Amino acid sequence: MSLSLSGEKPAVPDDADDGVWLECIECGETFAPFDDVRYTCDECDGLLEVRYADLPTFEDFEGEGVWRYTAALPLEEGVTTQEGATPLYEVPRLEESVGIEALRIKHEGMNPTGSFKDRGMTVGVAVARELGVDRLACASTGNTSAALAAYGSRGGMETLVLLPAGKVAAGKIAQASLHGARILEVDGNFDTCLDIVQDLASRGEAYLLNSLNPFRLEGQKTIGLEILEGFLADYDAVPDRIVLPVGNAGNTSALYKAFRELVQAGELAADEVPKLVGVQAEGAAPMVEAIENGADEIRRWDEVETRATAIRIGNPVNAPKALPGIRETGGTAISVTDEEITEAQRDLAGEGIGVEPASAASVAGLRKLRAEGVVGDDERVACLTTGHLLKDPDAAAAAGNDPEPVAAETEGVLEHLQS
Ligand code: F0G
Repeated sequence: MSLSLSGEKPAVPDDADDGVWLECIECGETFAPFDDVRYTCDECDGLLEVRYADLPTFEDFEGEGVWRYTAALPLEEGVTTQEGATPLYEVPRLEESVGIEALRIKHEGMNPTGSFKDRGMTVGVAVARELGVDRLACASTGNTSAALAAYGSRGGMETLVLLPAGKVAAGKIAQASLHGARILEVDGNFDTCLDIVQDLASRGEAYLLNSLNPFRLEGQKTIGLEILEGFLADYDAVPDRIVLPVGNAGNTSALYKAFRELVQAGELAADEVPKLVGVQAEGAAPMVEAIENGADEIRRWDEVETRATAIRIGNPVNAPKALPGIRETGGTAISVTDEEITEAQRDLAGEGIGVEPASAASVAGLRKLRAEGVVGDDERVACLTTGHLLKDPDAAAAAGNDPEPVAAETEGVLEHLQS
């Protein structure tokens, strides 16, 4: 199986360009990486992965941020705004209340546009430039559109974003707007937007930069590499488990790929690989359903709803890559309610870490799995928080304290504080 943790190195095909090629995860067909625009396999429509003749080792990594990991990436440099190198926060109170040996928060909200999408875009937009395309497009629940708009404008390219009308948080629309994207509001959910953008891309109208694009996931692998390096530095061991929110399952696929490549390079034993745990909102949980049912394919949910609008997704397109990642690492998937998400958002805020609702799903999921005894008290765990609090100011204000009107003089303020 091409997506197993066997440690078997891939055979280098004639299509390889400087040791890099694209390979179909379903039928194994290979393609040159930068000759043509292609998102899926010409033969069977399966998902593609970037493959490398030379696999990265920890010793190869130097510098800071996403481009520290050039040895694990398809290009030497990107269209960059200094993404990556995000904090791996200690959270002592949360660690104690969850009741595990160690808990760290990898806060991807600290990227330039406030989400992990920047890591994918610095690579994806550079590949677009390499391919010579001039118009970039994505469907988005918000963060991808913000990152695409920023990186597209930095790369001097036109950007087009399709968003589900009324379901994108204010901060994200503001970003896409000011960075100059054309914003097309679709009367439908994210999955419909993605169907349309895929059609546009296949007609050659724009270059697709959703996580279906295999190059974007290469940039997102660096989240996993940073977590491993951080844990090795602080604990001399990799984490037992990484818990992350799941929408399209791009990150789950990317982290698993990062670890598979380290196993193939002999840098990590297969049984050392952190267990991957995907968390979805109860109202949008097709991955959880597939894991619980032992299914190889997910069932598309047409009706989805959650306060965590970033992961309001019913058809996770990367499921064929992510399901093996969860299973092969001995991980699992779990759903949480909107109330549990908001509670976790408050818990993180109480440690000074401001995240948007989808991000807090990771902590809510960990708490639930610990309560169920799936996570042991001796475990060291990293939770991924994917987006910044300011992305969704309305959700933050609703979850937090209300402003209190007071008189415009000190005595009145003191009186109010005593009442
Ligand atoms: N968390 C946040 C804050 C997100 O914006 C997303 C995805 C996810 C988690 C899920 O990540 O797709 O890799 O499983 N947002 C996409 C967007 C869909 O359009 O911004 P995934």
